[in-house]
Amino acid sequence: RRVLVLHGPNLDRLGVREPHIYGSETLEAINGRIAREAEKLGVAVSFLQSNHEGALIDAIGQAPGKVDGIVINPGAYGHYSLAIRDALAGCGLPAVEVHLTNVYRREPWRQRLVTAAGCIGVISGFGGEGYVLALRALVNYWGQEQG
Ligand code: DQA
Repeated sequence: RRVLVLHGPNLDRLGVREPHIYGSETLEAINGRIAREAEKLGVAVSFLQSNHEGALIDAIGQAPGKVDGIVINPGAYGHYSLAIRDALAGCGLPAVEVHLTNVYRREPWRQRLVTAAGCIGVISGFGGEGYVLALRALVNYWGQEQG
């Protein structure tokens, strides 16, 4: 199985950006963590980070046939991008949404996740480990699927 890992806006600046909130781990380090877990699980992973909503939507739309599932941290788009929500719902692939922080203990406007409606589930609050959990969740989902 193949998984596309999508990182949304400002996640390229992890490690530098508000480290008291998002921690000191860089995106590169997180991707390394994901790659190691993928190898253990026998899953092939590809990565894309973009600060552009349309680039994320293009990647989701083009994912069928290339990958079997998606892990996405939509960043702030998660709170309001109905277009990303529709792309996820329409691509026909299982997606797991990840947020490094627990958005439910932050500002009220972060507590609405519109993109999550296009996903099979959400993992929020476990830092970079959340991506590892998301990969396992996808593998578990495939294991439960019939046919
Ligand atoms: C985030 C949470 C969002 O509210 C925020 O805009 C981000 C990061 C997270 O991973 O915790 O950019 O998606």
